[in-house]
Amino acid sequence: GTTLGTSAAESGRYFGAAVSTQYLSEAGYANTLAAEFNSVVAENAMKWDATEPNPGQFNFSGGDQLVSWAQARGMKVRGHTLVWHAQQPGWAQGLTGQNLRNAMLNHIAGVANHYEGKVFAWDVVNEAFEWDGSRRQSNLQQQLGNGWIEEAFRAADAADPNARLCYNDYGTDSINAKSTAIYNMVRDFKSRGVPIDCVGFQTHIAHNENLSSYQANLQRFADLGVDVEITELDVGQGTGQAATYGTVTNACMAVARCTGITVWGVTDKYSWRDDNPLLFDGNYQKKQAYHSVLAAL
Ligand code: XIL
Repeated sequence: GTTLGTSAAESGRYFGAAVSTQYLSEAGYANTLAAEFNSVVAENAMKWDATEPNPGQFNFSGGDQLVSWAQARGMKVRGHTLVWHAQQPGWAQGLTGQNLRNAMLNHIAGVANHYEGKVFAWDVVNEAFEWDGSRRQSNLQQQLGNGWIEEAFRAADAADPNARLCYNDYGTDSINAKSTAIYNMVRDFKSRGVPIDCVGFQTHIAHNENLSSYQANLQRFADLGVDVEITELDVGQGTGQAATYGTVTNACMAVARCTGITVWGVTDKYSWRDDNPLLFDGNYQKKQAYHSVLAAL
């Protein structure tokens, strides 16, 4: 293929980008996105603070705009994210006990129902583990206890039984304490029939990241019977940037259950990072990193 999307599609994979709907009106942004990618994810528009600004009052305007834009161009949509410790609306942050549980379950039902049939996968739970493999002490963990992740997956499955349900995190780019804790959770979920279909590897990394066990790590999760996805890829600038993009892409291509790659933005000028980590520069010119990915797909 001659684009990221068409090349990925040749092996049945997708190649996506995180999108801020506010930039869709900029021609360079929209044209690059439509020409090169075959999947999108909302950078912020489907998060809890955006979709439920007041308890039980949902606002799907940003997410719906992205879904229609993508559908009109034949692109797929990933859902990100139903439950996370960050970007919670203010009203949810102070809830305790059963009130927080009900708020979480009601949020999952409201959002996943609304996007049923429109998103192919959901990051049901985002970033629930620490580097040492312990649970992050978020309000969810402290108020609801260890079972909250399972509760979230069961609620998402009830609301949208056909979407692929993922656990998503960062710092899981090697076989380490954090990725092993997540691995053990997924193994437990699979053995007990808790509905989980995929694991997302955010892959926010440095140009000289040590990726010696990256592929083996993806493979050990796939061997549990879940799909794996690279969900938020970006690589800091530096001499190794292009090669590192190639290594990550090759790893996904080598793992049969790695279903696709999403980069966390279209252009360096709108990246959440300040170290030019994406495939297109501020003028929408293809970088070396772009060519490295295309060659690996
Ligand atoms: C980031 C967005 O890119 C920013 O615009 C926002 O201000 C903060 O969140 N992990 C995730 C993403 O799962 O949702 C985060 O996105 C980046 C880190």
